[in-house]
Amino acid sequence: MNVQFTLNGKSATLSVDPMERLSDALRDRCGIQSMMNDCGIGLCGKCAVFLDGQLVPSCLVPMFKVRGRTVVTWEGFRGTAAHAAAAKAFGELGVELCGFCDAATMMAAGSLVAAPHEPTESEIVETMSSVYCRCASPTTVLAAARRALEAKSGKGRSRAAH
Ligand code: FES
Ligand code: FES
Repeated sequence: MNVQFTLNGKSATLSVDPMERLSDALRDRCGIQSMMNDCGIGLCGKCAVFLDGQLVPSCLVPMFKVRGRTVVTWEGFRGTAAHAAAAKAFGELGVELCGFCDAATMMAAGSLVAAPHEPTESEIVETMSSVYCRCASPTTVLAAARRALEAKSGKGRSRAAH
């Protein structure tokens, strides 16, 4: 079947098996290199993309569900204000991520920053733990995500001013 969708702001049409995984289509057919196809069963989160604005593991999304929808990978996300805020916070805390999870972790933190509401603590933990990181401390990754949110809400600035 032909699947037309929007990928990082541009129209794309792929001739695919309806059950082909979005993760495979993005890597093998669209040249997207940022995401990892690691576990392939929705556990590690390293294949995360935004599908209509929702962070999802792309290995769980069959191509027939992508028709007419909007997909953003790290390549499209990295120019956004949400990415800049997340990257700044991680940099300030000295959290250096390796290539296995950096794209997905930045997108997870960015999804919290871009959320239209103030994420709850459980949302922060759930979102950041959706990406399995074998190198960095989970505590530090959470602290960086919280810092990005504080900067968004201005809490960091007000605290720094006192
Ligand atoms: S490769 Fe998709 S969640 Fe692990
Ligand atoms: S920094 Fe290496 S897997 Fe996260």
